[in-house]
Amino acid sequence: MTLRVAFVFAFLVTSFSKSLNAPIFFPEQSSVRKVDLQTGKVLDQHQMDGRMFGEGLTLLGDRLFQVTWLKNDGFIYDRHNFSKREKFTHKMRDGWGLATDGKVLFGSDGTSRLYQLDPVSLEVTKTVTVKYQDNEVSYINELEYINGEIWANVWQTDCIARVSHEDGLVVSWIFLHELRQHLLDTGYRAIDVLNGIAWDEENQRLFVTGKLWPKLYEIKLRPIDGPPDGSIDKMCPRASFY
Ligand SMILES: *[C@@H]1O[C@H](CO)[C@@H](O)[C@H](O)[C@H]1NC(C)=O
Repeated sequence: MTLRVAFVFAFLVTSFSKSLNAPIFFPEQSSVRKVDLQTGKVLDQHQMDGRMFGEGLTLLGDRLFQVTWLKNDGFIYDRHNFSKREKFTHKMRDGWGLATDGKVLFGSDGTSRLYQLDPVSLEVTKTVTVKYQDNEVSYINELEYINGEIWANVWQTDCIARVSHEDGLVVSWIFLHELRQHLLDTGYRAIDVLNGIAWDEENQRLFVTGKLWPKLYEIKLRPIDGPPDGSIDKMCPRASFY
C-alpha cells in the first residue's frame, strides 16, 4: 500500500472487518485518518488543532484513544464518527505511545517507563521500567499489544523491543535496519525513523511504517541469533544510522 507521504506517529489496524480492506487509523501531525488498507484511500478524518501533534493511538471497544506530544492532553474519538470527541488529561510525563489488551491502556512517554492506565478514569494504575540486561531502555515510543506482550519501537532506532508488561523486561528484539536500508537504497532519501507498528490480530498480520516513509509494510519475522553487525547495545538504545 502506498501512502501520501505523511509524518506517521502511530497507527493501528482494526479487526472489525474480515476483508482485506480492514480500515486502519493514522494520527498525523494534525489529523486522525481512517484509511483503506488496500488502496490507501482516506475514508474519514479529523483535522486536529494545528498546535497538537497526535501520537499514540489505540482502539478499545468503539473508542479510539489518542495522546499528544509535549502535552498531557489526550482525546477519545468515536470510531464511527471522528467528530464525536472528548478530551482527557493523563499523568504520564508526555504522550508518545498507546496500546491496549482490551482491558487496560498501555502508555509510553519517551522515557524507559511503561504505564498502565485505567480506560475509564485515565489514572495510572501500574508503572514498570523497561530493561534489557539490567540496563534501562529509554525512548520507548510507539506501542502495540501482540500475543500478551508489548512491542515497542525505540525512538531513533530500527529496533522493536518485545517487552513483558508484568516486569518491563525485554524478552527479545526485532531488527528492522534492512527494511530502512532498502528504502534508502531504492532512492527514498528523505525518510525518517521507524515509527509505527500495527497488529491485525484476526489475520495475524504485522505492519510497520515510519515517518515520511512512502509505504506501509506487512512483514514476517524470522529468528536470528543476534544483530548481524554490532551489539544490541549499539544498535538499539542508540541509532546505528545517525
Ligand atoms: C457525527 O457527530 C457529530 C457531532 O455529534 C454530528 O453533528 C454529525 O451529524 C455526526 N455525523 C454522522 C455522519 O453521524
